[in-house]
Amino acid sequence: MAALVMPELKTVGALVAWARQSLVQAGVSNGVQEAMWLLEHALEVRSHQLVSLMDRLVSPDVWGRVEILVARRVAREPLQYLLGTQEFCGLEFSVSPAVLIPRPETELLIHQVIGRVQSLSEATIVDVGTGSGCVAVTLAARLNGQRIFAIDRSSEALAVAMTNAARHAVSGRIEWLEGDLLAPLRGRLPEGAVDLVVSNPPYISESDWAGLEPEVRVFEPRMALVGGEQGTEFHERLLRESREFLALGGLLVMEIGAGQAPLVRQLAEQIGGYTALRIIEDAAGIERVVIAQRVE
Ligand SMILES: C[S@@+](CC[C@H](N)C(=O)[O-])C[C@H]1O[C@@H](n2cnc3c(N)ncnc32)[C@H](O)[C@@H]1O
Repeated sequence: MAALVMPELKTVGALVAWARQSLVQAGVSNGVQEAMWLLEHALEVRSHQLVSLMDRLVSPDVWGRVEILVARRVAREPLQYLLGTQEFCGLEFSVSPAVLIPRPETELLIHQVIGRVQSLSEATIVDVGTGSGCVAVTLAARLNGQRIFAIDRSSEALAVAMTNAARHAVSGRIEWLEGDLLAPLRGRLPEGAVDLVVSNPPYISESDWAGLEPEVRVFEPRMALVGGEQGTEFHERLLRESREFLALGGLLVMEIGAGQAPLVRQLAEQIGGYTALRIIEDAAGIERVVIAQRVE
């Protein structure tokens, strides 16, 4: 790849053109638009303002910042880590390399959970593998009265999640626990006290992980992505371990990867204690959410 030479005259317009060319040349598929977003971020202006600033000369401080942002994106660091945020269910979430960037398909989990617990103001909900807190915080913001626990094995992720709860004024609605899956609930809640367990667990198989695009494989936390040899190991553990905590009639709502539904259904049947799995497709027609109801 040819060296990226910064323009002599550093107007906003020249920087936009340089950033655009650098990103496109590096193979960033949405490079033209991303250049605008990076400039808006560096200049701390809103999107509609940038076009009116193209002739403005920028300070060495700003072009230094732009240079660093573009270099990081050229190295394929995800745009969201550079901007520090990602929108999810209409709310803005802070993200850092300690957490998975919330994905649009996970919004389906939220819709499924809200539809089922909205009328149960006394319900206890547990978000397992909370990451950025996007699930727990959105539920707290959209529901009233329900008790919400959020668990993660990563203390760094929990710190980001707590920031997001504060950002959306729901800190007092969520209890944060560090540990392995549902284990931190032991001693805190009696058996059968949970009405709904929701989880977007790590579900990439070891073999699929190697083929992921660099933005994901190199920069997002491996612990948030890889579920084991099959990719369904966390679903299996959640099916087994949730039975202890779920009330009779309680629900386990999990996100799954494309093509995992048959295996997760088979696991649920082997483990027992649940009704037949309900499987819900996302907007792309991919089986994306499974719902198991505890019956024994
Ligand atoms: C796929 S990410 C989901 C993050 C967030 N809920 C979302 O939907 O964007 C999975 C999360 O599970 C956490 N995790 C991985 N192994 C875990 C374990 N054994 N116990 C609890 N959390 C775990 C990771 O740290 C990560 O935050």
